[in-house]
Amino acid sequence: NDVSLREQSIVLIGFMGVGKTTIGKAVAKKLYRDFIDIDEEIEKKYNMPTSEIFNLYGERIFRQTEKDMIIDSCKQKLKIISVGGGAFLQDEVREACMSHCIIFFLDLSWDSWKERISLLIDSRPVLQGKNIDQIKQLFYNRQPIYEEHHSRVVTDNLPVDEVADYITESLK
Ligand code: S3P
Repeated sequence: NDVSLREQSIVLIGFMGVGKTTIGKAVAKKLYRDFIDIDEEIEKKYNMPTSEIFNLYGERIFRQTEKDMIIDSCKQKLKIISVGGGAFLQDEVREACMSHCIIFFLDLSWDSWKERISLLIDSRPVLQGKNIDQIKQLFYNRQPIYEEHHSRVVTDNLPVDEVADYITESLK
């Protein structure tokens, strides 16, 4: 890896709706870096919301695009990148991010997360058609994939700015 540690991009991972985009923007602002939201890039490419991409092209195509974009973005220097909650299920995505970037897992407890469910359900195809127990299961099934990544940031009850400060401070 020829990019120095100080120039490595930062990748934010974690379950849907934990605040990767909001916190990513705040971190980018503090560090004067560019922010890349992978879901937003995918939506721009197809010129439609994620849920329509899932409906029209299927999840497989979405995942392929997501993978290509992350592998490309994570090799760039000095970016703050927010990736979708399912991105790290793909081996190649994990491997690319682990070798090129600094990864932070934004961890929110299930109890806090479930308060946000109604805000998320319409825009998150992965949640649709599932009952609360199935969603809870998905939440807990994915935790170990995120937890594998050393820098865990517990975000419960913390304002965005404090989480962003914590991340920028821990880079020093
Ligand atoms: C997904 C998470 C979403 C988005 C897509 C699939 C997932 O991103 O990529 O709806 O499988 O967890 P967020 O984590 O930003 O909600």
